[in-house]
Amino acid sequence: MATVPLAKVPILGKDTVHVGYNIHEHIVSTTIHDCPSSTYVIVNDANVQKLPYLKTIKSEMEKQLPEGARVLHYITKPGEANKTRQTKEQVEDFMLDNGCTRDTVVIAIGGGIVGDMIGYVAATFMRGVRVVHIPTSLLAMVDSSIGGKTAVDTPMGKNFIGAFWQPQFVFVDIKWLETLPRREFINGMAEVIKTACIWDAAEFARLEENAQTFLDIVNNAQIVQYSDENTGDVYELSQTDIPKMLEHTYKLVLESIKVKTEVVSSDERETSLRNLLNFGHTIGHAFEAILTPQALHGECVSIGMIYEAELSRYLGILSPTQVARIVKILVAYGLPVSPSEKWFKELTLQKRTPLDVLLSKMSIDKKNDGSKKKCVLLETVGKCYGTSAHVVSDADLRFVLTDETLVYPFKNIPANQTKTITPPGSKSISNRALILAALGKGPCRIKNLLHSDDTKHMLNAVQELNGAKITWEDNGETVVLDGQGGATLTACENPLYLGNAGTASRFLTSFASLVKSSKSKNHIILTGNDRMQQRPIGPLVDSLRTNGTKIDYVKNEGSLPLKVYTDTHLQGGRIELAATVSSQYVSSVLMCAPYAEEPVTLSLVGGKPISILYVEMTIKMMEKFGVKVTQSTTEPFTYHIPKTQYVNPPEYVIESDASSATYPLAFAALTGTTVTVPNIGSDSLQGDARFARDVLGPMGCTVEQTASSTTVTGPPVGHLKPLKHIDMEPMTDAFLTACVVAAVAHDSNPEFHNTTTIEGIANQRVKECNRIEAMATQLAKFGVRTHELPDGIQVHGLDSIDELQLPRDSTGPIGVETYDDHRVAMSFSLLAGMVNYNSTEKDVDPVRVLERHCTGKTWPGWWDVLHTNLGARLDGAEPINNAATKSSKSVVIIGMRAAGKTTISKWCAAALGYKLMDLDDAFEQDYGHGNIKEFVAQNGWEKFREEETRIFEDVINKHGDDGYIFSTGGGIVENPASRVALKKFAASGGYVLHLHRDIEETIIFLQSDPSRPAFVEEIRDVWERREKWYKDCSNYTFFAPHCSNEIEFQSLRKAFSRFINVISGNEEIAVPTKRSAFVCLTFEDLTEHTSKLSEIAYGCDAVEVRVDHLVKLDADFVNRQLFTLRSATGGLPIIFTVRTKKQGGKFDDDDYETLEQLFSLALKAGVEFIDLELTLPTAIQYKVLNNKGNTKVIGSHHDFDAAFPWSNSEWENRYNQALSLDVDIVKFVGTAVTFEDNLELERFRFSHTIKPLIAINMGEIGKVSRVLNTILTPITSSLLPGSAAPGQLTLPEINKIYTSMGGITPKELFVVGKPIEHSRSPTLHNTGYKLLGLPHTFGKFETDSAEEVKKQLLDGNKNLGGLAVTIPLKLDIIKYMDDLTPAAEIIGAVNTVIPLGDGKFRGDNTDWLGITNSLISNGVPANVSGMCGLVVGAGGASRAAVYALFKMGCAKIYVINRCSDEMQALKASFPVHFNLVLVETVEEADQVVDTVSMVISCVPANKPLPDNLVSKVERFLAKGAKASFVPTLLDAAYKPSITPLMKLASDKYQWHVVPGAQMLVHQGVEQFERWTSFKPPFKGIFDEVTKD
Ligand SMILES: NC(=O)c1ccc[n+]([C@@H]2O[C@H](COP(=O)([O-])OP(=O)(O)OC[C@H]3O[C@@H](n4cnc5c(N)ncnc54)[C@H](O)[C@@H]3O)[C@@H](O)[C@H]2O)c1
Repeated sequence: MATVPLAKVPILGKDTVHVGYNIHEHIVSTTIHDCPSSTYVIVNDANVQKLPYLKTIKSEMEKQLPEGARVLHYITKPGEANKTRQTKEQVEDFMLDNGCTRDTVVIAIGGGIVGDMIGYVAATFMRGVRVVHIPTSLLAMVDSSIGGKTAVDTPMGKNFIGAFWQPQFVFVDIKWLETLPRREFINGMAEVIKTACIWDAAEFARLEENAQTFLDIVNNAQIVQYSDENTGDVYELSQTDIPKMLEHTYKLVLESIKVKTEVVSSDERETSLRNLLNFGHTIGHAFEAILTPQALHGECVSIGMIYEAELSRYLGILSPTQVARIVKILVAYGLPVSPSEKWFKELTLQKRTPLDVLLSKMSIDKKNDGSKKKCVLLETVGKCYGTSAHVVSDADLRFVLTDETLVYPFKNIPANQTKTITPPGSKSISNRALILAALGKGPCRIKNLLHSDDTKHMLNAVQELNGAKITWEDNGETVVLDGQGGATLTACENPLYLGNAGTASRFLTSFASLVKSSKSKNHIILTGNDRMQQRPIGPLVDSLRTNGTKIDYVKNEGSLPLKVYTDTHLQGGRIELAATVSSQYVSSVLMCAPYAEEPVTLSLVGGKPISILYVEMTIKMMEKFGVKVTQSTTEPFTYHIPKTQYVNPPEYVIESDASSATYPLAFAALTGTTVTVPNIGSDSLQGDARFARDVLGPMGCTVEQTASSTTVTGPPVGHLKPLKHIDMEPMTDAFLTACVVAAVAHDSNPEFHNTTTIEGIANQRVKECNRIEAMATQLAKFGVRTHELPDGIQVHGLDSIDELQLPRDSTGPIGVETYDDHRVAMSFSLLAGMVNYNSTEKDVDPVRVLERHCTGKTWPGWWDVLHTNLGARLDGAEPINNAATKSSKSVVIIGMRAAGKTTISKWCAAALGYKLMDLDDAFEQDYGHGNIKEFVAQNGWEKFREEETRIFEDVINKHGDDGYIFSTGGGIVENPASRVALKKFAASGGYVLHLHRDIEETIIFLQSDPSRPAFVEEIRDVWERREKWYKDCSNYTFFAPHCSNEIEFQSLRKAFSRFINVISGNEEIAVPTKRSAFVCLTFEDLTEHTSKLSEIAYGCDAVEVRVDHLVKLDADFVNRQLFTLRSATGGLPIIFTVRTKKQGGKFDDDDYETLEQLFSLALKAGVEFIDLELTLPTAIQYKVLNNKGNTKVIGSHHDFDAAFPWSNSEWENRYNQALSLDVDIVKFVGTAVTFEDNLELERFRFSHTIKPLIAINMGEIGKVSRVLNTILTPITSSLLPGSAAPGQLTLPEINKIYTSMGGITPKELFVVGKPIEHSRSPTLHNTGYKLLGLPHTFGKFETDSAEEVKKQLLDGNKNLGGLAVTIPLKLDIIKYMDDLTPAAEIIGAVNTVIPLGDGKFRGDNTDWLGITNSLISNGVPANVSGMCGLVVGAGGASRAAVYALFKMGCAKIYVINRCSDEMQALKASFPVHFNLVLVETVEEADQVVDTVSMVISCVPANKPLPDNLVSKVERFLAKGAKASFVPTLLDAAYKPSITPLMKLASDKYQWHVVPGAQMLVHQGVEQFERWTSFKPPFKGIFDEVTKD
């Protein structure tokens, strides 16, 4: 049996930690011997309880237990959720019940959770008892059990309550790991790697070496069945073959423990050094706080380590190579290195980790210095920077945590700054050096090697083929290849996988032809990823084949995988090679040629070879390794290579990448400072090395170049000169850098427009992106003009850097796109710093550069160099479209013909204030030769669909973010390309709104249209085909039923406005904060009860659809229900509830598929609230939470069986769960068994106030809880057949009971003024009180004296609930008001008095709302921005009318009146921006060019109007604008009910007219809500008031 020695590791001076394998006897005997006691309490969790090894320990314990002693056993629930004060209390109670005393020894067997919690129990039980830890998880072995930290969690944070309590022993028995599940095993490795990172470079290297074995064995773990002989239960346990890697596991555990014990021994209380153990934890914890419980601690620490390593690199402390090593090892041990790794994202349910939340989580870290955040920084692998954590700035944290970088002006950089920057090694040179050193004889130390995929595969291949011994020095910074002169190359067993490494695959193909067979293999397989298996290699293979090497294509002719035979060899002699496709073929043959059987003459055939500079590079490098190639003097492109052996130089420093070097050099050019690149000079092998001399020099920089270094000093800022013409063919990759420098280059000759012309770069159109186009597009954002050439670009520099613009559009600053192209990103990082360079303002906007990480391809550390070495100020930011700003994304409306697209598009445009574009019109405009029908007749449908798609893509590209409504043709979804474009737009945050109408209604409608005869079957087919596409392509649905009358139509419009405003975020869905209620609808089909719905919802703030009660659950049916409800209640917020059987509803508990579909439907329908049961699978919960948009989520939980009294921790845990899900509202429904349960509930309510809480008890006994609940109490209605839950009350019932309990004080309200005998106010309000069960009364108080009102009511009536003020007191009353609302202030009159308590009163004015709401309920949109209105009259009511029109967004308000003076006075009293225009004469009225859409008349109608006034009104009526609604006139005079002006407007000019009585009701209900804080029962009131 495998074995390892028992090791004892001291901590705080005692040999407390014992490490071994299978040491249960030792554990028990030591415990009993060294910790004698009468009582041993073993505590473990329910998972560990299943382990066979636990039985072994327990029976050993029984065996060795001395007489008189006893063993108690307690099992806890597993998981972080149970690491609570409550569990701790339960364990303590257990120990107290069992009479445990101070001599008790607690034995904690388990992972970190049990260890931490039970350690804390021991620390406080009887003021501290002895504890022994037997850690069973890897994490617990190497980390949590060592050091004496104990704790439990609270809802505010993990480990917030705890103590330091050192154990008597920690017995680490590796045997436990055999059953540890794979994910937990890997999770523990994060801490092991962390420890090596901060302390132990040698152990780190050992871990690197053993990674593969480890992962193979852990991945190979078997699941075995295990049956418990005592209980008969059968469990599945993981079984890892630990003996196979016992030594490695033992070592990694032991070494890790040694570090931790050493650190703890020197700093037990974490005052400094112990801090270091938190490497990766500051950021890791922040992620953990969001991603728990789906993500494990170690996984989050792994991610945290990468970010903190990157932070160290950003601050210039850690080298990029070391960061790369850390990433590599974490990946190698199966840990996540980024929160966006696909598998990790799926595992954590796609939860978002917003930057601000991460930072706020970090701000409560225990290591912090007050509000300052601290991180552990690394200097190198195995060593921290300093001996404690360091304060880091939020800007630096933001930078590393995001992919979008904010670049501030480079202005604080001193002009005399001189810097030396060494860019990473060149890829081409790195790959060549590895091949040459592997073939050469003797050791070669290669420095500045580029760490990339290519070099990684190359190194691996060299090793596998036994080419050279590879070791690392300088902590991985130098690679040493000990070459054998090619003598030992032997075929390897496994295929060589080369990923997508092009250079490696080309070089290794020739290299493979030098390899000898092994005992078992006579060939090598070279293979790669899918992309690599398409890339060409044919010419090289052809050439090698003709020269004697046998090579087969394994799959596709001309590409990898290749089978290269090792018993055939490169013959040598004359080799011909076609080199027009890739120079890498040439280099590949050249480098291997010295080892052919005969000297080689390589002749490049087939035309001019491509990239000859690279061939020269190879030849020069071969010379450095001792082989001289001579070029033929007689034949072109022909080379002679001798048969010889390479001799390795002892050291080879890879030249930096010359393309990369252009960025720091251009930085010097732009900022007028000096930068030296120390290892690229005139002798360089790379074409881009000429950039400084050929580009920056002529542009005005001072360039000093030696054979091996380049120094550039820029002219003073703003003095760069354009370069008239340059052929950049030898340095194509550097043209982007040239462009950004040229952007700010100018000279004095205006004729040249500061133009720099660059040519010879055609290949740049087919790189990572079309780079020429990319530069043109992005430069334009800075205000720089360019002109694309077929193989180049012209850049027209700005006259001054002050003209450089901050990229922005109408919504504000926007980002510079980088197309995932490292060179685009690096170039623009430079230009970004020149924006606002001369600004003297303190806070200038930075330039946002997107996708920062793309520089990783060649220079992962570029931003670090820019920030730390070159001195730029950078910051990071969340993507703009993630920020919670209102978007102006356009809306595309799709749906069948006859679904109402045209009408709804107009409504949509009006509601959002967006521009409307009909795409059919756009098509016809574009076509220019007639209409669509004609186009189709000529070109056919297919062509039409193609053109339609093109136009759609075009408008989306141009106006997708500009606030447009696009109304589409019904057939747009017929073309697959259109469907792709629609989905893409929706995915980018755009709105694709599917207008849905019932098929039968559609058929009836279409048949009634004589211009489009259609057969029923035909329509049905089309409908069926398209409906699924509409659904598929849209992200929102609006169901638009046919309206049979104007009222339904207006109500649909209102519902639509609310819908579109809510989904677009224009209107925030408010969670009520006052007493409020919602009615639960349990109908099987709401459409059968439409007429009653508004009445059922009287007084409610929302209405709940119990979807589980609906008779059908298909999408069409449910959608119709939602929209019926919307229209019927005038857009009352909807609560969408699918109650499962377990939670008291009718929905099948396990039908998750339908449930998900229903939730998705609800979100598409833009419902205001979704009820989400807290017992649902987390994955479903997050699907809703992640996609909820503006919808609010109610996290609900019901205890139907009365299983949990309110004091039970079940509720506490559910509350915490709701908090961690971050739902918007919590809804808890218990069941009252005794009346006392209601009091318990109130205690719970008052101690849980973090989130809005609905908490009630079901049942008769629980009724009072419904009265005492404050927000959104579920209610029933007398018009419903039954209640939705036992004990439910109606709103009047609740109000009456609440009144009788003293909750509502009966108030007296009055209308005051004179004459008021006909006032309808008492009827209006008393009707409302009755309908809602409110105890108030509304009477009349007739007087024309404000003093009287003051005396009798304001001062004299202690129960005064409010006053409706009418003529003549609206002005006089103002002096008694303590406060005025803005409306009352501007209108200059008070019609509503609201008591504020303490004898104080607020004056308000609701007359204007009476006007706006009357207009809106008659079809005028709430937002009429840009339109004009007219007010007739200049008295008090006219003032309210002006204010109303202004609040609706009118751009201009015309006023006409009989008397000019009054009108002048009116205008003078309003602010100028109200834009009042007085029209004095008929002639003036004639000259008005604007059209008006709303007229409000405020002159008395019971006597005839002067002709002159009527003529003026008529001029305006004649100009009624055909907007998205019928022009509308409201006559504020309500006697007679149809006034002469109304008659004129409707009969002669077809205006819509609204009688003044409506306005009275509308203003009255506004008063009602202000006084009672209840939603007025509008219809009941309206009917009563307008009865006669
Ligand atoms: N005190 C400290 O210094 C310190 C340090 C690091 C972490 N921690 C704490 O440790 C906790 C995490 O510890 P953990 O990762 O061990 O979690 P854990 O205790 O939940 O154990 C992981 C899971 O594996 C099971 N398990 C444990 N050993 C097993 C075995 N041998 N075979 C099969 N299953 C086994 C457990 O039942 C559990 O389900 C966190 O609460 C964290 O805060 C504390």
